[in-house]
Amino acid sequence: MSLHIPDELLTALSSAERVVVLTGAGISAESGVPTFREAQTGVWAQYDPRELATPQAFARNPRLVWEWYEWRRKLIQQAKPNLAHHALVDLEQAIPAFLLVTQNIDGFHWLAGSRDMVELHGNIARTKCFEEGHVVGWWPETDDVPPRCSSCDGPLRPDVVWFGEGIPEQALRTAFDATAGCDLFISIGTSAVVQPVASLPLLAKRMGARVLEINRDQTALSVLADWSLRDKASQLLPELIRRLGYPTNAIDGA
Ligand code: APR
Repeated sequence: MSLHIPDELLTALSSAERVVVLTGAGISAESGVPTFREAQTGVWAQYDPRELATPQAFARNPRLVWEWYEWRRKLIQQAKPNLAHHALVDLEQAIPAFLLVTQNIDGFHWLAGSRDMVELHGNIARTKCFEEGHVVGWWPETDDVPPRCSSCDGPLRPDVVWFGEGIPEQALRTAFDATAGCDLFISIGTSAVVQPVASLPLLAKRMGARVLEINRDQTALSVLADWSLRDKASQLLPELIRRLGYPTNAIDGA
C-alpha cells in the first residue's frame, strides 16, 4: 500500500510539540460503528434525531429512546478499536504535549489506550439520572424501561450529550485551551459541522497552528486545512506512524 503523505507534513509532525487531535465517527467506521451524516448508511439518514437524541424526545417517549440507545450500546460492545485508534496511542506517546478530543461516545480511544483525552459528547457505556444529572453505576432491578434512579426515582438515561444540550464545561474548556495553544491540529473522520466543536480547527488556524485533515471525503474544513488527506483513517494513521519512525503498540489486525 502506498499512501501519499507530503514530506512537509512529516516535518511539521516530527517537530510539533503541542498537538491536538479531534476525532469523529469516521475513525470508528471501520470498527463497524455507523457514522451519522453519510447518505444511506449514516445514523441520521435512517433515524430522526429529533425523535431520539433530544431531552424533549426522551421526555415524550423515554422507552423508545432508552431502547434505541441500548441497541446502539450492544452494537458498540460487539465491536472494538481499530488500527486508527491504536495509532493515536502511539502518537500520544511520541508528542510532548498531546490532547485527544473526541466527539465519539463509543469509548474506543480509552479502550485502545489513549489517556490524554476528553470525551465531549459523553460515553454510551455510562448512565445518568435524567432529573438530577448525576452518573449512576447501579439501579434497582425492576420491569421499568428505562430503569429508575435509586435516589429520586426519576428515569435513567444514557450519559451522552443530546442536541440542544451543552457540552460538559470542563471538557470543553480543556479542548479550547489546548487548541488555542497547539502548533498542529489534526481533524480525523468528522464532518466538522456540529458546534461548538466545528470552531476548534478554525481557532487553531487563527492562532497560527497548522491544520491536517484526514477524512475519506471532502468536508467544510478541507479548503481551510493545510493538508487534507482523503484516506481511511485506519490506513493513513498507522502509515503516518511508520513514516515518522515512532514505536508502535498496535497489534497487527487489531
Ligand atoms: N476514515 C476517515 N473518515 C471517514 C471514514 C474512514 N474510514 N469513514 C467515514 N469517514 C468520514 C465521513 O466522510 C464523514 O465526513 O467521517 C465523517 C463522519 O461525519 P459524521 O457522520 O457527521 O460524524 P461526526 O462528525 O462525528 O458527527 C458529529 O454529530 O450527531 C452528532 O453527536 C453526534 O458526535 C456526533 C456529531
